[in-house]
Amino acid sequence: MAEPFYLTTAISYPNGKPHIGHAYEAIAADVIARFQRLRGRDVRFQTGTDVHGLKMVQAARDKGVTPRELADEMSGYFKEMDDLLDISYDRFIQTSEPEHYRTSQAIWNAMVEAGDIYMGRYEGWYSVRDEAFYDEKELVDGEGGQKLSPNGAPVEWTVEESWFFRLSRFQEPLLKHYEEHPEFIQPDSRRNEVMSFVKGGLSDLSVSRSSFDWGVPVPDSPGHVMYVWVDALTNYITGVGYPDDTPDWKRYWPADIHLIGKDIVRFHAVYWPAFLMSAGIALPRQVFGHGFLLNRGEKMSKSVGNVVDPVDMANAYGVDPLRYFLMREVSFGQDGSYSHEAIVTRCNAELANSFGNLAQRSLSMIFKNLDGEVSAAPEHADDIELLAIVRTACSEELPKAFDELAFSVGIEAWMKAVFACNQYFDTQAPWTLRKTDPERMKSVLMTLFKAVRDLAIAIQPVVPGSTGRLLDQMGVNDRDFAALSDDRWFDSLVATGFRVAQPVGVFPPLELGETAADRYPLPSQLQGA
Ligand code: MSP
Repeated sequence: MAEPFYLTTAISYPNGKPHIGHAYEAIAADVIARFQRLRGRDVRFQTGTDVHGLKMVQAARDKGVTPRELADEMSGYFKEMDDLLDISYDRFIQTSEPEHYRTSQAIWNAMVEAGDIYMGRYEGWYSVRDEAFYDEKELVDGEGGQKLSPNGAPVEWTVEESWFFRLSRFQEPLLKHYEEHPEFIQPDSRRNEVMSFVKGGLSDLSVSRSSFDWGVPVPDSPGHVMYVWVDALTNYITGVGYPDDTPDWKRYWPADIHLIGKDIVRFHAVYWPAFLMSAGIALPRQVFGHGFLLNRGEKMSKSVGNVVDPVDMANAYGVDPLRYFLMREVSFGQDGSYSHEAIVTRCNAELANSFGNLAQRSLSMIFKNLDGEVSAAPEHADDIELLAIVRTACSEELPKAFDELAFSVGIEAWMKAVFACNQYFDTQAPWTLRKTDPERMKSVLMTLFKAVRDLAIAIQPVVPGSTGRLLDQMGVNDRDFAALSDDRWFDSLVATGFRVAQPVGVFPPLELGETAADRYPLPSQLQGA
């Protein structure tokens, strides 16, 4: 039976429509999910929306709707975005589901039974935008001496009777866990930040609110709802059946990766493992905090007017070019920037002109000069050498990098193999061989056919739609990574008499336009939109 692999994204606040940062995380997670499936793992992939908390209450009030109405409407946009971007999630959770209330109350009760929950009075700083409590020493000074959270969000002094979680008790167990499992928090830079935060001492955490009622009710405590992060983090176990000992629970928990952004590492690497330790639940294997996506190097914000809608972007460039660009351009884990010019330049150079062109001209020549026939031909040393380069990139270099979530590194290795193929094409010049040595032309074209098939299989996690259409045209049915090192596929194509039809290109070039703004609105044009 295939080995399980449970992967989650953060669940987004649906207080507005999704932006490109949300799409970035969903795409990266989808690349992991597809990659692991193609490697034979039994993947469970969960994403969704985080609907509780004061931020949602306030956003709903501003729009004159109830928080539930806002959550339902906006969650629809997140799901639509995921579907448009080919995100192959198995479960889209919305934290207002009754099942999630039951799981949240179960973990709460387990923490109560462990003696880690007590009644107290919270007096301190709270940021609604971050949905986070801060110590005075963490705050920074904003304009006019206004106090701001470390993320630059406004904070307000809050005084409220609330339930507390004995987070302080977990300082040592958490540090021990980080020491023993260096892979638990990744990349290392985030691990270091978390470790120094925890070493600095942990205060107990206020885990309920009584000034509003939009949230999961605290068991046996009328008037209290759970602090939004308690129920939000719990979504990861709701999705696999906790507290019931279901087959899914036994199979998928603990999660292999919680993929999240760098701004919420503390919640996942400090609070969440502490809740789990208290409740006697195994800890996830890894929390990976990716970097932020910036618009031309600038942070996206509604006030600057440079928040970009991923649906518009996918419509402008195509789903696969957008996916490719984001995974290729940004060194995963670090912040990265996008701009219209960078997307067009990168996708045209690599997808359209290099890989797309290689596939298109190889298939075209087979169609025109060999009647589309795929048949065995003797291999020359140059052919064997090229196929070895391609095989190493596709079955060793790319998978190794993707296993480490170093997507840009893996794609770069793949791209080098694509370049090697184009160089081979030009050196062998099959269009000349057509007249001088038709047998040799056939060997060259068959070598290219094999190389394109391997390259297409390996890059499927990143550009699944286009590679699917390409592999369909090539009659390739076995598309997982194991098929890369199995040469029988070619013999069976030959045996069944497969013929390539007139090929249809799958990576059309993008247009740069007279100015960038022709194709895609610049931030200045979005202002006031
Ligand atoms: N609801 C919480 C997460 C709860 S998880 C139990 C939340 N929501 S969010 O909508 O603000 O963010 C969702 C995810 O998108 C987070 O992982 C966040 O880091 C990520 N991103 C938000 N803006 C981003 C960019 N500009 N770039 C990349 N990722 C970004 O936090």
